Amino acid sequence: MSSPAPLCRLDDIPDGASNGFYTDTTDGRLLYLAIRRGDEVFVYENRCPHTGLPLDFQPGRFLTADGALIQCSNHGAQFRIKNGFCVSGPCEGDSLKAVKTEIRNGRVFVAA
Ligand code: FES
Repeated sequence: MSSPAPLCRLDDIPDGASNGFYTDTTDGRLLYLAIRRGDEVFVYENRCPHTGLPLDFQPGRFLTADGALIQCSNHGAQFRIKNGFCVSGPCEGDSLKAVKTEIRNGRVFVAA
């Protein structure tokens, strides 16, 4: 297994909000969405289980207006922040693909 890849600085994700990132791999570019709650970060592949499209029309904006759920801007599917489970929308019952993360010295790393 290869070593974790650097994704961003923790401060690149506003507390209580979200941001989008990518890594370049030998298999191409991988897109991620990240949600921050204090010192905790939840990272998922930025690919909606409904069609495979990225979730954000506005870069980095992944949350509902109240910040309680992740929302796909394509057809409105909503997902729990803690586990990526889709609670409403066309892919209800499916889940975003979670990405293992590690925070070290204020930087966020993802499993490569
Ligand atoms: S692409 Fe996400 S709800 Fe349709």
